[in-house]
Amino acid sequence: MKITGDKIKKINKAVFSEISKIEDLNKLEELRIKYLGRKGELTEILKSIKDFTIDEKRQTGPVVQKLKIEFEKLINNKKKELKAQGEDYSFGDFDPTKPGKKIKIGNLHPLSKVDEEIRQIFTSMNFSVIEGPEIESEYYNFDALNIPADHPARDVWDTFWIKNPENSKLRMKNEELKNRDSKSTKAKRLLLRTHTSPVQIRYMEKNNPPFQVISSGRVFRYEATDSSHEINFHQVEGLMVGKDISLANFKFVIEEFFKRFFKGQKIDFRFRPSYFPFVEPGVEVDIKFKNKWLEVMGAGMVHRNVFKSAGYNPDEWRGFAFGMSPERLSMIKYNIPDIRLFYSGDLRFIEQF
Ligand code: DAH
Repeated sequence: MKITGDKIKKINKAVFSEISKIEDLNKLEELRIKYLGRKGELTEILKSIKDFTIDEKRQTGPVVQKLKIEFEKLINNKKKELKAQGEDYSFGDFDPTKPGKKIKIGNLHPLSKVDEEIRQIFTSMNFSVIEGPEIESEYYNFDALNIPADHPARDVWDTFWIKNPENSKLRMKNEELKNRDSKSTKAKRLLLRTHTSPVQIRYMEKNNPPFQVISSGRVFRYEATDSSHEINFHQVEGLMVGKDISLANFKFVIEEFFKRFFKGQKIDFRFRPSYFPFVEPGVEVDIKFKNKWLEVMGAGMVHRNVFKSAGYNPDEWRGFAFGMSPERLSMIKYNIPDIRLFYSGDLRFIEQF
């Protein structure tokens, strides 16, 4: 479409008459957009000049350019004029002077932080981190740990048994687990692991000593909850096996761990004799919390029968093992009164860490 001198004159006239009626800055901006915006009338004309013949370009080009500069001047002057009269842009309900809304940035759950810290401390002491399944077989969770079916100690670990695994969606996984449990002829029932100790057996079956490992993960207990008990919680299992490992090594490792984990915080702790079928002797470690001893870990020297289940010669190897509670350690470190807070999903709790 060719531009005629008439059209340019018309636009020129329109701009002059429209601008004289404008009384506020928003309207002025609308006018600017109408003629000089990306799709404004004058802009369109400028864009179409490229299609003109050379003669037309010579004739029309400078006129339109001049008009553009004139309009811009006109609009700027009008703007100054309006501002001098105290006019300002109007934002309707929007108040540009209000401070913005703070963007919420999520943070890590205290248990994730503590887990990461525990891993770091142990890896810096040359422990490796290993993993095991949460759905476990009776064999690894109990039998191989020197807790046969008729052993009264089984009652210590109230268990969630997995019903009728053949029909469950977990079938594939279960089949896989069962096949791996080739050592056991009877113990094929499946359960949610009640502790991380079965990872000890799984690791020893496939690796030769000496070594030192930890395994951190979720465990499950079918029991009543209270301020220090949950049905679903975590454990960090530790195992160190070598030719001449003794309880003295265990004491050193744990004291060093406490020193680093609690940093400057003063804690009162004690080692106390205890019983677990998979260790001999067995100990428990307590830390003073709110004037009471709170048990934070079980431990001991790996029982001969456990070494035998894993295929080790019990006359050749010695080791210590421990299982500790990251929840309880966090309670002490951060002064958290109730274990149930960890799983409450209450943001007021989580945001404090
Ligand atoms: N598995 C035990 C529990 O859940 C804790 C434990 C005790 C782990 C002694 C160990 C150990 O490795 O040696 O109560």
